[in-house]
Amino acid sequence: MRPACVVAAKVLDEIVDFIKPGITTQQVDNFAAERMMAHGAKSAFLGYRKYPCHTCISVNEEVVHGMANERELKFGDVVSVDVGVRYNGFIGDNARTVAVGGCGVAAQRLMDVTEQSLYLGIAAAIPGNRVTDISRAVQNYVEGHGFSVVREFVGHGVGRTMHEEPQVPNFVDRTMNDRLRPGMTIAIEPMVNAGCPDVKILKDGWTVVTRDGSLSAHFEHTVLITDGKPEILTWAKTPSALMVG
Ligand code: MF3
Ligand code: CO
Repeated sequence: MRPACVVAAKVLDEIVDFIKPGITTQQVDNFAAERMMAHGAKSAFLGYRKYPCHTCISVNEEVVHGMANERELKFGDVVSVDVGVRYNGFIGDNARTVAVGGCGVAAQRLMDVTEQSLYLGIAAAIPGNRVTDISRAVQNYVEGHGFSVVREFVGHGVGRTMHEEPQVPNFVDRTMNDRLRPGMTIAIEPMVNAGCPDVKILKDGWTVVTRDGSLSAHFEHTVLITDGKPEILTWAKTPSALMVG
């Protein structure tokens, strides 16, 4: 899992550097495809349930699963980029929301709270804890800051396939209460709306948007449960020496 996750993180880093006002989301996806190939990896999303793009690029009120098109990104847009790669038989999955050029304080606060909720969720990913401990950490922080967590989409176990057990909701759901054990790899991915938590899917069958049109942010890491502290596998600065073997 480590090499796959380092590649996923590097590609996401490269995409974030590439994003600037005036480029289209199709150009972003094309660039992502090229970078994945350069790293010897493939998109884990392309072809998954007939998904047609290499990445998910979700702009402003789009929550997740936004598909590349001819839309030009403009200054102030809030863009969530989700990158999953297959490398050497394993999947690395990560996402980040960035402002194009810059943004207002309300959007920045939404991104900051979402990112921080991810790190609080990760901190709860220790052996002996349960999935709900992650969910609770994320939900309490997000709602404590006046934002809401999406219910319809959740984090997940990840390994040789993209979606494995357990599901990792960003809200407390007592029916999903698996105990966390060392060796598990899970994708924790809070999707946070500035307004109400409700979402709908557009007619294209994929793009998820907030029902009230409010902004949404999404941060995701693939994390390894260890005997001690959780290890964030999708960390782009991991020395590439660790990728060998
Ligand atoms: N990171 C998302 C997930 O975990 C991406 C899936 S997009 C899809 O579900 F197109 F592949 F479905
Ligand atoms: Co995921």
